[in-house]
Amino acid sequence: MPPSRTPTPPPASAPETPARRDFLRVAVHGGVLLGAAGAGCLAALPRATEEPPDDLLPLAEIAALAKLEPGTPQRFEITLARRDGWRVVQRTRRLFLLRRSGGDTAAAFAAFSSVCPHAGCEVETTGKEYICPCHQAKFDANGEAAAGPAPRGLDPLELAVQPRDGKPWLHVRWQEFVTGIAQRVPRTT
Ligand code: FES
Repeated sequence: MPPSRTPTPPPASAPETPARRDFLRVAVHGGVLLGAAGAGCLAALPRATEEPPDDLLPLAEIAALAKLEPGTPQRFEITLARRDGWRVVQRTRRLFLLRRSGGDTAAAFAAFSSVCPHAGCEVETTGKEYICPCHQAKFDANGEAAAGPAPRGLDPLELAVQPRDGKPWLHVRWQEFVTGIAQRVPRTT
């Protein structure tokens, strides 16, 4: 987690655009769940500070492609910083990355929100599937609903492969969706 900061009022010389008011930063922390034992944790990633150009959050760098094991969902955290008046409020969200096949293009990967589409609890992974602890919804490794009350599969997140220090990294755009319905409707933040 980034260190807490004492909030200060914005300088008068830097008027905020609506998008800039909403989300100031996206910081990413890498973590891995390997199997039911949940072993291991990657070091926090140092770079991912951007300002959004529009209503969507920016793509945030999440992990080097070389870190992702084929066929094993891995969990990562992303911290969003939002300005509320003169305060900056941070919130952490989790997502899963899955390498579906070989290759270094975005098509070889999938990214899923950890927010359960049933009622918004946080889904976990066993390393082979995803399970929601609230009402036992299950999703297969590709995020498809497999059992329980969830009205749809896990929500996929936009991803892209972009270079960082000469190596390919997965970048993901965080987004939230309305829960409890079969349709995938983006939630406005
Ligand atoms: S909130 Fe996940 S199964 Fe109900």
